Amino acid sequence: MKSSIKNCFGLALAIAMVATVAAQEAATEKGTASPAKVTSEPAKSPPVAVAADNSQCFVCHINFEEEELAATHRKAGVGCVKCHGPSRAHKEDESNMTPPDIMYAKEKINPACLKCHQPAKLGDIHESVLAGTDPKNKYCTDCHGEHHLNHRTRIWDKNTRKLLPRTAKGQGTKG
Ligand code: HEC
Ligand code: HEC
Ligand code: HEC
Ligand code: HEC
Repeated sequence: MKSSIKNCFGLALAIAMVATVAAQEAATEKGTASPAKVTSEPAKSPPVAVAADNSQCFVCHINFEEEELAATHRKAGVGCVKCHGPSRAHKEDESNMTPPDIMYAKEKINPACLKCHQPAKLGDIHESVLAGTDPKNKYCTDCHGEHHLNHRTRIWDKNTRKLLPRTAKGQGTKG
C-alpha cells in the first residue's frame, strides 16, 4: 500500500510537471500568462502558475481528475485544498465518517467563486447570473464543470457537518 501510494505520487508529480509546461505554453499562446495571485506566499520568479498537486485527493476522488472545474483550476495552481481546505482528518479517516474542511451549501458557491473572479471582468453572459435574475442558472457550477457526485456512500449536512442517514437521497447533487 505504502509503495503504491509513493508510485502514484511520483506519477502524479510527473503528470503535474507535464501539465505545468502545457499550461505555460497555452498561457503564452493566449497571451494571458498572469502571476499566480492565488497564494499568499511571496511570488516566485517565473510569473506563471504552477499546477497544484491533487494526488492525495485523487486516491479516492479519481473521478475529479478530468472534471473541468477541478482540472482548469489545478492547472492554474488552485488545487482541491484551496477550495475545500487541507481536509487532513477527512482524507485519513478510513471509515469515511469525517467530512472535508470546507463544503458548499448552494448559497455559498457564488461568493466563493467571486472571491477570485471579479464580477466586472466576467463576460456579458454573467449579467443575469450576477443579478440573480436567471431562474435556471443561479450558481456558477450550474454552467461550469460537472463538479457533482451522482453516487455517494456518505452524505453530510453542508452547514452543520453532521453525517446524514443514508436514506437522505439527492443531497449535494445538482438541483
Ligand atoms: C479515503 C478516501 C478519501 C480521500 C483520500 C479523500 N476523500 Fe473526500 N470523500 C470521501 C468520501 C467517501 C466522500 C463522501 C462522498 C462519497 O460517498 O463518495 C467524500 C466527499 C468529499 C467531498 C464532498 C463533501 C460534500 O460537500 O458533501 C469533498 C469536498 C471532498 N471529499 C474533498 C476531499 C479533498 C479536498 C481531499 C484531498 C485533500 C479528499 N476529499 C480526499 C473519501 C475520501
Ligand atoms: C482561489 C482563487 C479561485 C477561486 C476560489 C475560483 N477560481 Fe476560477 N480560476 C482561478 C484562476 C487563477 C484561474 C486561471 C486564470 C484565469 O483564467 O483567471 C481560474 C480560471 C477559471 C475559469 C476558466 C477561465 C478561462 O478563461 O478559461 C473558469 C470558468 C473559472 N475559473 C470559474 C470558477 C468558478 C465557477 C469558481 C467557483 C466554483 C471559481 N472559478 C473559483 C482562481 C480561482
Ligand atoms: C448561464 C451559464 C453560466 C453561469 C451560471 C456562469 N457562467 Fe461563467 N461563463 C459562461 C460561458 C458560456 C462563458 C464563456 C465560454 C467559456 O469559456 O466557457 C463563461 C466564462 C467564464 C469565465 C472566463 C472569463 C469570461 O467571462 O469569459 C469565468 C472566469 C467565469 N465564467 C466565471 C463564472 C463565475 C464566477 C460564475 C458565478 C458567478 C459563472 N461564471 C457563472 C457561462 C456561465
Ligand atoms: C475552484 C474551487 C474548487 C476546486 C478547485 C475544487 N472544488 Fe470541489 N467544490 C467546489 C464547490 C463550489 C462545490 C459545490 C458545487 C455545487 O454544489 O454545485 C464543490 C463540491 C465538491 C464535491 C461535492 C459534490 C456533490 O455532488 O455534493 C466534491 C466531492 C468535491 N467538490 C471534490 C473536489 C475535489 C476532489 C477537488 C480536486 C480534484 C475539488 N473538489 C476541487 C469548489 C471547488
